[in-house]
Amino acid sequence: MRFEPLGQKMFTRRNWLLRCSILINIAVILYIGSQLMIGGGNNFSNGAGFVLQDQQQPIVAAYQVASASAASSSSQPTPKNLNPVEIFESEDKLSAQAAAGNGNVEASGAVAAANSDAGAPLAEPVPPPLANDSGGNEPGQVVGNIGSSGVAVNELNNTQADSGNYIVTGDEKELEERVKSLLNCYDHDYNQETLQRGDFWVLQNYVRADHGEVKCHETITYTTHADYTFLDNLIPLLERWNAPVSIAMHAPGTDFQPTLDSIRYLRECLPGSHLVRAFTTFHIYFGTKHIPKAVPKPQDVFKTMYNCSLPAPYFNISSGHLYKAQKKLLYPVNVGRNIARDAALTHFVLASDIELYPNPGLVKKFLEMIARNEAYLRRKAPRVFPLSIFEVEESSPVPHDKTELQELLRTGKAIPFHKRVCASCHGVPKSKEWMAANETDDLSVFHIGKRTGYYVHWEPIYIGTHADPHYDERLSWEGKSDKMPQGYALCVLDYEFHILDNAFLVHKPGIKVLKKDNRRAMLATKTNQLIKKIIYPELKIMYGMRKGCAI
Ligand SMILES: *[C@@H]1O[C@H](CO)[C@@H](O)[C@H](O)[C@H]1NC(C)=O
Ligand SMILES: *[C@@H]1O[C@H](CO)[C@@H](O)[C@H](O)[C@H]1NC(C)=O
Ligand SMILES: *[C@@H]1O[C@H](CO)[C@@H](O)[C@H](O)[C@H]1NC(C)=O
Ligand SMILES: *[C@@H]1O[C@H](CO)[C@@H](O)[C@H](O)[C@H]1NC(C)=O
Ligand SMILES: *[C@@H]1O[C@H](CO)[C@@H](O)[C@H](O)[C@H]1NC(C)=O
Repeated sequence: MRFEPLGQKMFTRRNWLLRCSILINIAVILYIGSQLMIGGGNNFSNGAGFVLQDQQQPIVAAYQVASASAASSSSQPTPKNLNPVEIFESEDKLSAQAAAGNGNVEASGAVAAANSDAGAPLAEPVPPPLANDSGGNEPGQVVGNIGSSGVAVNELNNTQADSGNYIVTGDEKELEERVKSLLNCYDHDYNQETLQRGDFWVLQNYVRADHGEVKCHETITYTTHADYTFLDNLIPLLERWNAPVSIAMHAPGTDFQPTLDSIRYLRECLPGSHLVRAFTTFHIYFGTKHIPKAVPKPQDVFKTMYNCSLPAPYFNISSGHLYKAQKKLLYPVNVGRNIARDAALTHFVLASDIELYPNPGLVKKFLEMIARNEAYLRRKAPRVFPLSIFEVEESSPVPHDKTELQELLRTGKAIPFHKRVCASCHGVPKSKEWMAANETDDLSVFHIGKRTGYYVHWEPIYIGTHADPHYDERLSWEGKSDKMPQGYALCVLDYEFHILDNAFLVHKPGIKVLKKDNRRAMLATKTNQLIKKIIYPELKIMYGMRKGCAI
């Protein structure tokens, strides 16, 4: 057919007219609607809003207005609301009690008092970096509770803070969701890569844990470094940590093969091997001048089973036996620390030394503390969470909780870490009070300190994040002071040290005594020169200066 039938044409035209009129109708309705909305907006404060769209927004706003006014009208919160006071109670009973009497504003005053004791400026009580105010606020959370001084004090809904175990009673999923929304972190990839880092080759994620991909908010990674002679610590560590471990192994030249054998032995031959397989990711690195004769592809490492009747490859190997010692190499401790941290999949990392064992249950309790998001976690300054460190006698068991630890301290079987070697390197602010205070159920912040005054050379070990400054890779273990530049950077960046209560590290049993080591003494002198002449001037340019900070 060449012609369109007339009927069809008529239909098309009518159809077109119909569409036009519908469009006009819609336009008219929209116009009327928009007029109503404008009127509704004007009336909103009367509570007579007539709004069809965006219902959520005004209702949330109305709720917040209502709850804020409700909160400001209750001018005498109970002392239990004032979490900062509880933390600083041991610190300064008088100011804490004053705070309890006078409400929220003095609560932040107590924090200030605690800080000024350590010579730190008062941090403004402003919304925290952690909390995502647009997404993180849940009904019942008071926003912008205005204290009488006019400073906005963000407080959790008091009933939640009261119970102190808002999450503990809920299921794991709820804890996870809450931590996720508070951290708002990025997941990392878990690829096996061959990289170069300065003068080093790095086999990143060379032997991966079976846990596979891990979400950044799910858990905490213990990051550490070692040569294979230290691997006897791995299983005792895992039995307590029970969460991901990222370990950078220094394995130059002929140390490479025994390192691989040790990893195979640990994954296949021991009662604790399931923990190694489940949680431990090994990276291997060595200097470009000291590469091994052969490096198998990652998928070939476990092609043959290890003969488990053989002794552990790391058993009774003295450090003098290592390739590193024969070639008089220095141990590049900070290269290892940075490799292990950079490869960690989680937001929070505990950068530690492999001989330091945490108390069991730390990871879960720490995340529960994060989920509670109490006032001290909503402070503006950047922060890390140092752990108190102890040594126990060779024959002593490693304490599982603070109560056991206190018993060992009382009987002299345990002492604060490096008390006999370098007390000021590891002295922790308020450590006497910490040791005296009884254990409590929840993990919490005991005291907020600074790296100033007596603690100006403090080398804390802490739970931090990927955002913290790296370790200076020019420094070696032998030269000492390897954490000092990082400590200086933290001080200049005004980090707060939220010292954790009920959480601690214990060194592998055996109390260290000061040994004379001429080579190390000579290297330490060199390192001090390097720091003074080169590194410190650099840090002053890169991070700036701050009164009270030193290296
Ligand atoms: C808060 O979360 C929302 C939604 O999850 C997101 O769009 C926004 O970018 C986040 N804001 C900040 C400051 O992280
Ligand atoms: C806190 O939450 C509870 C229940 O969720 C609610 O009854 C109470 O009014 C809230 N308190 C404040 C101060 O908003
Ligand atoms: C494993 O090592 C033991 C002890 O050296 C040896 O007797 C045994 O033959 C070895 N087994 C295999 C399969 O090589
Ligand atoms: C450890 O090695 C040394 C020498 O290397 C040896 O004399 C000693 O017997 C070994 N100890 C054990 C328990 O095998
Ligand atoms: C600490 O615990 C001990 C033993 O359980 C108890 O006797 C003591 O009263 C407690 N101290 C405080 C301050 O609660």
